[in-house]
Amino acid sequence: MKVLGINGSPRIGGNSDILLTNVLYGAKNAGAETEKIYLTNLKFSACLECDELSHDGICRIKDDMQEIYQSIINVDAVIIASPIFFGSISAQTKMMIDRFQCMWLAKNVFGKKIFYKKRKGAFISVEASSRRDFFDNSRAIIKNFFATVDVKYMSELMITGIETKAGINEYPNLIEKAYDLGFRIAGK
Ligand SMILES: Cc1cc2nc3c(=O)[nH]c(=O)nc-3n(C[C@H](O)[C@H](O)[C@H](O)COP(=O)(O)O)c2cc1C
Repeated sequence: MKVLGINGSPRIGGNSDILLTNVLYGAKNAGAETEKIYLTNLKFSACLECDELSHDGICRIKDDMQEIYQSIINVDAVIIASPIFFGSISAQTKMMIDRFQCMWLAKNVFGKKIFYKKRKGAFISVEASSRRDFFDNSRAIIKNFFATVDVKYMSELMITGIETKAGINEYPNLIEKAYDLGFRIAGK
């Protein structure tokens, strides 16, 4: 089993990063092969909403998104980690998701099959405040994305009240929850 973790936070070594590392550690200990992608290290454009309708699910923009398309097609589970920024997911995460419009069109307008195996997914998110509605916004976007890439939304970890870089380290119980999430998702 292959588990892909996508970190949508620009803060390397920050809260999402630490949680995602522990999710992947749990998955690895359950026997999975793991991969982590930092969106902030990739160079990719926002969706350009080009007029050319995608029949084949292949995006015409040749940039670092091609690496993500390949990874998402090949894996068995996808974990998205994004902090809450202004009440929603980070811009990096949203930019990545919008670039899957090519696959949305190929599937939903042209009836093309793109994914050939059932996959599992989870979402982890951290915010400084305690606004549950911000998680509702973010969850809706991630569920919409997962539906597009044929990933079943299996699990989530939403954490409030953490603002400083690596502040999550003060809560070993939450880090353990991340580990358990990874272990379960790889084991089910
Ligand atoms: C641009 C920006 C916008 C933010 N917007 C919110 C917000 O709307 N609500 C909130 O509770 N926290 C907000 N935060 C705080 C982050 O969610 C919080 O610091 C989180 O722990 C960052 O996680 P990270 O270390 O994984 O990047 C914002 C932080 C930044 C940098």
